[in-house]
Amino acid sequence: MRKQIVAGNWKMNKTFSEAETLITDIADALDEVDLKDAEVVLCPPALYLEMATDVAFESNFKVGAQNIYPEDSGAFTGEISPLMLKDLNVSYCIIGHSERRKYFHETTEFLKRKADALLKHGIRPIFCCGEVLPEREANQHFEVVQKQLAESLFHLTQEAFQEVVIAYEPVWAIGTGVRATKEQAQEMHAYIRGLIAARYDGATANEITILYGGSCNGKNARELFEQPDVDGGLIGGASLKTEEFLQIVTSL
Ligand code: PGA
Repeated sequence: MRKQIVAGNWKMNKTFSEAETLITDIADALDEVDLKDAEVVLCPPALYLEMATDVAFESNFKVGAQNIYPEDSGAFTGEISPLMLKDLNVSYCIIGHSERRKYFHETTEFLKRKADALLKHGIRPIFCCGEVLPEREANQHFEVVQKQLAESLFHLTQEAFQEVVIAYEPVWAIGTGVRATKEQAQEMHAYIRGLIAARYDGATANEITILYGGSCNGKNARELFEQPDVDGGLIGGASLKTEEFLQIVTSL
């Protein structure tokens, strides 16, 4: 059975004390929830990872980072390495988010290095892929996603690939309030699973967790998660409010 996941991407939000309150509130609320085999992952800003892993130690969630630099150590001013994350018991790291592709010019080749660097230390990449609006309008969305996966992930061995979580995030849906319809999400998720089956095999494709991200909230999560190939969500704005985030978690 593939793992269902709801991951909260806090992006560059919250002061330390606000973050501490939010993490503790979510941890307390999760104590009341039977997650079965599902996993909740919180991805706060890097500065708060240590505090988050301390809380997670006695709680029902895992911690993810939002970024890494793909070297263990060295002269890379301002950067954080997967070795450092490993040392803090960070379990996941988001890579390939459209904001990093756009504002920080991260290429598919660079993301390939990030995936390798994380997997070397047993940190599971949450690999984001997805098309921008003009690409969807030109009916190029399948091709765009295929290229993103092929260029950054499909060099991995089957064993390494099994540790990856994919997040399909149509860029036009991120932070806009305009989400993909359940049909659009299911269609792309099934397509991604087909690509994985073709590159690896059917069993691998069936085991990979594929999350949907982009304006997913407490109201629409259930119908998205009900789709056979949607295994949970990567949640931005709605992960910053305990009640709404919990509503999403319990929609699994
Ligand atoms: P959103 O962001 O839920 O605020 O649309 C999702 C994401 O960027 O991961």
